Amino acid sequence: MEIGLDIVEVPRIRRVIRRAPGFLKRVFTPAEIAYCRGHKDPWPHYAVRFAAKEAVWKALGQARVALRDISVTRDGRGKPSVLIRGRRARGLKLSLSHGEDYAVAVALKEDKA
Ligand SMILES: CC(C)(COP(=O)(O)OP(=O)(O)OC[C@H]1O[C@@H](n2cnc3c(N)ncnc32)[C@H](O)[C@@H]1OP(=O)(O)O)[C@@H](O)C(=O)NCCC(=O)NCCS
Repeated sequence: MEIGLDIVEVPRIRRVIRRAPGFLKRVFTPAEIAYCRGHKDPWPHYAVRFAAKEAVWKALGQARVALRDISVTRDGRGKPSVLIRGRRARGLKLSLSHGEDYAVAVALKEDKA
């Protein structure tokens, strides 16, 4: 089993996206962007997805996956799960939380993943 954790400052991700719009499409999938844009305050949602990508990357323990290849999807109840290049990564578990200032993500990779 491997574990990955990440914390992101919400104002920082907001600043980066506003200053460098290219960052958005480099890092987030169209579905993630659509989900975040659907909120009045999209920034905690972007921040937590960025944290999720880094947490998963850490749990995977190797650099061959780009952050853009890792994305977050949600089930009908809002529970997040991981997609790698658009395909459900069943052995990877994710938990996310965000406040006004910080967003955190923890990812767990099961042995067989
Ligand atoms: C789901 C729940 C745990 C979210 O907690 P919160 O303190 O509001 O928000 P947090 O910042 O900690 O977490 C937000 C993230 O939790 C995740 N999340 C949402 N629903 C989830 C669920 N059912 N299971 C696991 N994770 C969930 C999402 O990734 C969400 O981020 P996103 O909206 O950007 O995708 C909360 O709504 C809850 O306690 N629900 C259970 C009770 C309930 O259903 N109450 C309402 C009906 S009476």
